[in-house]
Amino acid sequence: MNREALDTVTRLIGRARARQRPKLPEQEPIRLNLGSSLLVAPGWINIDGGLGALLAGLPQPLLRIAYRSSGMREQMSEEAFVDVLSNHRFVHHDLVYGIPFPDGSVQAIFSSQFFEHITHPHAERLAAEALRVLEPGGVIRISVPDFVWLLEEFQRGAKRAVIDGIFSADGSGEYARHRYMYDEEMLVELLRNAGFTDITRCRFREGRVPDLDVLDNREGSLVMEAARPRSNALRSPKQPGQPRVSSPGS
Ligand SMILES: C[S@@+](CC[C@H](N)C(=O)[O-])C[C@H]1O[C@@H](n2cnc3c(N)ncnc32)[C@H](O)[C@@H]1O
Repeated sequence: MNREALDTVTRLIGRARARQRPKLPEQEPIRLNLGSSLLVAPGWINIDGGLGALLAGLPQPLLRIAYRSSGMREQMSEEAFVDVLSNHRFVHHDLVYGIPFPDGSVQAIFSSQFFEHITHPHAERLAAEALRVLEPGGVIRISVPDFVWLLEEFQRGAKRAVIDGIFSADGSGEYARHRYMYDEEMLVELLRNAGFTDITRCRFREGRVPDLDVLDNREGSLVMEAARPRSNALRSPKQPGQPRVSSPGS
C-alpha cells in the first residue's frame, strides 16, 4: 500500500473512532502532547491522528514491518521508531473532534507545529477543548511557524523556500497539509477568545510547561503559553469521557 493510501486509511480509522472513550491511564499528572507525531517526552500522552499513533503498542516485529512502508526512514532509524512506539503512550485520535479527556483532568498541554495543520474554526474549537480539559491553573504551550518571520524571509528574497514551506508542508497526505498561519496577535486572540489568561510569548525552551529541553525542537518558532484561570466556569458543559490510551508494550 502506498503512503497516500495508508494516510487515507489512517484518517478513516480516526474518523470512525472519533467518539471512542476508552479508559483513562492510571498516571498522574496527565500531560498531553497534541499533534505529537513521534516527537515525545517520557510520561506525556501523545495524541495524533497519523499512522505512528495508530501503530503504537503493536508487537515489535509488526512495528519493524510497518517502519519499512511508513516513509519514516528519512526521519528516524528503525530502532528509534520501534522504541518510541513501544515505550511511550499514544492516543490515535483526530483532534478536529476535540480532546477525548474529561473536564479539568490535565495538568499541561504541549503542541508544536500542529495548530497550523487545522483550519481556524477547528483551532478555535480545539483551544476551547484545551481549556476544558486543563485543570484550573493548567498551562498550554503552542508553537507554530512565525508568519511574520516567514514574510520577512520572503521579502529578503527566499521566496520559493517560504512558499514551498507553507504550501508543501513537511510530508505527504492530508495531515501534513498546512491549513492556517499565525502571527503573535492572532495566536493571542485565539487563546484569549477561548478563555485563557496569563498569555505570554516564550523563548525557545523557556516557559512554565515541563520537559521543554526534550519537547521544544524548533528554534525560531512563534511560541505562546497561556493558563486556564484558577476559577472560571467552563463554557462547554460537554463531557467527552475517557480516551483510548495505548500503554507501553500493550
Ligand atoms: C508537523 S507535525 C508536528 C510533529 C511534532 N509535534 C513536531 O513538533 O515536530 C504535525 C502532526 O500533526 C498531526 N495532525 C495533523 N492534523 C491532525 C488532526 N486533525 N488530528 C490529529 N493529528 C493531526 C500529523 O499527523 C503530524 O504528526
